[in-house]
Amino acid sequence: MKVAIDQELCRACGICGEVCPRHIPVTSTDGDLRMTVISPERAHLCMECGHCAAVCPQGAVEVECFRGREFETVNGSEIESEQLLSFVRERRSVRRYRDEPVPREIIDRMIHAAKSSPTGTGSMTTGIVVIDDRESLAALSELVYGMYEGLEKGLKNPVARFFIRRRAGEKRFRTLRDFVMPGMHWYLRWYREGKSNEVLRDCPALMLFHSPAFEPVGEQNCLLAAFHAVLMARTMDIGTCFNDLIPPACNRDPEIRKLIGLPDDREVYAGITMGYPKHPFRRIVPRELEEVRYVSTDR
Ligand SMILES: Cc1cc2nc3c(=O)[nH]c(=O)nc-3n(C[C@H](O)[C@H](O)[C@H](O)COP(=O)(O)O)c2cc1C
Repeated sequence: MKVAIDQELCRACGICGEVCPRHIPVTSTDGDLRMTVISPERAHLCMECGHCAAVCPQGAVEVECFRGREFETVNGSEIESEQLLSFVRERRSVRRYRDEPVPREIIDRMIHAAKSSPTGTGSMTTGIVVIDDRESLAALSELVYGMYEGLEKGLKNPVARFFIRRRAGEKRFRTLRDFVMPGMHWYLRWYREGKSNEVLRDCPALMLFHSPAFEPVGEQNCLLAAFHAVLMARTMDIGTCFNDLIPPACNRDPEIRKLIGLPDDREVYAGITMGYPKHPFRRIVPRELEEVRYVSTDR
């Protein structure tokens, strides 16, 4: 059983069952006796999100994956709304970095923030790989460019193009053909001419987020974890940029899989380059969404 209730401590207040997304703890009254028990029919549905354990005033709920782990007390931390709004409005992707390593303590804090992100299935199946040494980043660059070179060649050949299209599916194929590869054409050229590395952007560190290939919401989990790391990085003057070119290369190329130690059953779904920004942003670009609309019958 993934979740258990210590009947000695439990006061049967029922809060654990109320917050549980699947109402697994059930509180009932029989005469004078009021008890909270784990529903035998739904026990196996537990996602180990830990909400039951986090709200219980008595500390009477134990969730298997947290067994033996210390629970810190919630301090009611607050951040001013205006402060957060300015913070997110002033965040921009940073694509040029100073030639300076990112201290491991900073990376660890980013990982700490990433661990706190929401996960679609409750459980924590996301993994993180950090590459922060020049040699490995250079080796990775070479392999990533090699993969895209092969892809560029393949897209020019009708037979290879047919198979790429079938394998990628129509949406990904069009993204590749119409968005990724036209830019990649130049990136490859500049890289081979030794002018610049527009894929890794000469970042001093790269963080990759991976998930089991069959995790239903693995991609979303990775992106959310990455964005938590991005925001955390900004509090420590580290600039980041999402990178959509590296994850597909990690998943497709066996040599890259080996280099980053990615097991066969996992896929990389998000990547962020990071480093101290070379150039500060001085202005906030006015940005709008395509549409903002309320659907409401009472106004
Ligand atoms: C999922 C995702 C993937 C991205 N991939 C790349 C990428 O491969 N290369 C890149 O330079 N920027 C990438 N970006 C950064 C976007 O281009 C950037 O967020 C967008 O232009 C808005 O700018 P801002 O982040 O400065 O607000 C990506 C962003 C997201 C959210």
